[in-house]
Amino acid sequence: MNTSPIKIAPSILSADFGRLAEEVAAVTAAGADWIHLDVMDGHFVPNLTFGPAIVKAIRGASALPFDAHLMIARPDDFIDAFRAAGADSITVHAESTPHLHRSLSRVRASGARVGVSLNPHTPLSALEYVLDEVDLVLLMTVNPGFGGQSFIQAVRPKIRALREMISRRHLSVDIQVDGGVKPANVDQVIGDGANVLVAGSAVFGQPDYQVAIQTLRGSTPVGV
Ligand code: DX5
Ligand code: ZN
Repeated sequence: MNTSPIKIAPSILSADFGRLAEEVAAVTAAGADWIHLDVMDGHFVPNLTFGPAIVKAIRGASALPFDAHLMIARPDDFIDAFRAAGADSITVHAESTPHLHRSLSRVRASGARVGVSLNPHTPLSALEYVLDEVDLVLLMTVNPGFGGQSFIQAVRPKIRALREMISRRHLSVDIQVDGGVKPANVDQVIGDGANVLVAGSAVFGQPDYQVAIQTLRGSTPVGV
């Protein structure tokens, strides 16, 4: 179980890229907690999105924390650029870097909150010797690369085991789940121990962002 307040982090991957700043402002007004930025390079994942210039261009559209999820090879080369562009947290994939501890140290040195991500198949043992260094663990609940995929149920025991690992060590680390998060499975992932929910299509694919965000929180918005 977890007792932290739940945070909703809409992923702009599912936003209208032609109106990105407006979309970021809209989910901010609709009650989002963080803005999730999916950065893809066509190497680590089979898709391309955007780099620091776009992050900088939309930074003024919201005062919320910008949460950069780097799905890129050689993340060390870009950490400072994303930080300078306005990222408040920077998450690197354990699978993307041969020297994970060094990459996480570089994020720490940049001044950003430190995140580490695991693909669905990557065991928690990858975190054994770095967990004390991070503020956030992002557990992928789809294979990274695209929005709108189905939640992989097999990751649920990993969420529970991670929450136990964090409690056992008396750490304060966010557990973020990313991929296929929908109103139908939020109770499950929260019960498993997640406290930050990334949602792309479940927010930007909906007609009313406020209703979408409140529905993910499990409550009905005032006036609806
Ligand atoms: C996938 C990204 C996710 C994605 C989530 O590689 O990391 O953030 O946008 O999209 P949905 O919520 O539609 O699965
Ligand atoms: Zn993501």
